[in-house]
Amino acid sequence: MADEKKSQQGEWSSRFAFILAATGSAVGLGNIWKFPYITGENGGGAFVLVYLLCVLLIGIPLMMAETLLGRRSKENPIHTMEILAKEAGAGQNWHYLGWLGVAAGFLILSYYSVIAGWASAYVVKAFFGSFSGASPSEVKAIFDGFVASPMQLIFWHSLFMLATMLIVVRGIEKGFEKSVGLLMPALFALMILLVGYAMTTVGYFQGLNFLFKLDFSKLTANSVLVAMGQAFFSLSLGMGAIMMYGAYLPKDVSIAKSSMIIAGADTIVALLAGIAIFPIVFSNGLQPNSGPGLVFETLPIAFGNMFGGWLFGILFFMALVFAALSSSISLIEPAVAWLIENKGFSRKKACLWSGLVAWVLGFGTIFSFNVWANVKLFERTFFELVDYLTANLMLPIGGFCIAVFAGWVMKREHSQQELDFPDNLSYVLWSFLVRYIAPVAVFLVFLNVVGVL
Ligand code: PFF
Repeated sequence: MADEKKSQQGEWSSRFAFILAATGSAVGLGNIWKFPYITGENGGGAFVLVYLLCVLLIGIPLMMAETLLGRRSKENPIHTMEILAKEAGAGQNWHYLGWLGVAAGFLILSYYSVIAGWASAYVVKAFFGSFSGASPSEVKAIFDGFVASPMQLIFWHSLFMLATMLIVVRGIEKGFEKSVGLLMPALFALMILLVGYAMTTVGYFQGLNFLFKLDFSKLTANSVLVAMGQAFFSLSLGMGAIMMYGAYLPKDVSIAKSSMIIAGADTIVALLAGIAIFPIVFSNGLQPNSGPGLVFETLPIAFGNMFGGWLFGILFFMALVFAALSSSISLIEPAVAWLIENKGFSRKKACLWSGLVAWVLGFGTIFSFNVWANVKLFERTFFELVDYLTANLMLPIGGFCIAVFAGWVMKREHSQQELDFPDNLSYVLWSFLVRYIAPVAVFLVFLNVVGVL
């Protein structure tokens, strides 16, 4: 690949800008909304350990692989796979991998926007003092009443989708970089504050115990799959989002270091969310396995009862909405870039169409919490089905293929050139992880779930 080539969509202004944007993509609802509730549903400590192992052994090497593929081709994921497969002398079927990613992006965004809409509504609720002095049952009633109303959910979902589209329309440098720089530190500070509150509650140690005490009897084959899926989801891997961001990465940036910083930040935020939420769960006699409403049923109790809680509540939900925005733009960018680069769409038109498709799909998730709550396929609501399909199947399958491509199909000298490690040992280690550990682990987890193991 010619060294001077740059993505048509522009380039990050610095290594820091890339780290910021990729961290923005990684840190989002996955860390603060999803990680705590699936940890609660899957029994706590042992699940967290499997999750951490997946981040370390599969997530980080794969993040490096995705980034290097993107940077080498400087194109959208579908085109990247075409170009790199050709360069490696492999078949053209690899571009289906790009398709799988684009499809996963739409599906995830469709429900992501609905949940981000909840967070947006909670900014307003916090502002009007809905949580002030509220008891756990009042907080729960607020949540239940809210999700029971399709009209309200549609309103907030539409607003969030519109905001996503507006940022993506402005393009990489203007839109993305600026929006992430401020809110990441703000979110981080607010999480620390919430952990501080959690420490003052009676259930603090019980919460920590739940989160970190290993009890393998609670670990089922399916929870291992969910933990692995969450590692992919939380790090934005397996669907080309990070590949896309890698395409905007200048040549002189260290992919390995950046990946470790991004994964580290992502993991810290998820753990902080857990440390803040579970003590509140146990202090108030709530259930850890109460599902997708968990964050919305716990944190308002903290805000309603802590000093300065009115202001912190508003700030927290605002930060959460922004964190969700910096993730949602990366969910849609691969599709948008593809429409522009391969189909000749203007950026505006590409955003409009992609947004519209995801918006319509989002209605399925909205209705899953009210009018279609009892409509189930494979014992799952529409939302649960889309979530399972994307996080537990599409992303791991995408990740498996990316690992195989980077480890086995791509020429060694090419991956070596992109990674540019100062020593050979690091390359050998990375190569071992993407060639053997990551694909074999994904494969074994799948076999385990279908009951072959
Ligand atoms: N990583 C995001 C989160 O944890 O909220 C969600 C996400 C963004 C998943 C982008 C996948 C993706 F490509």
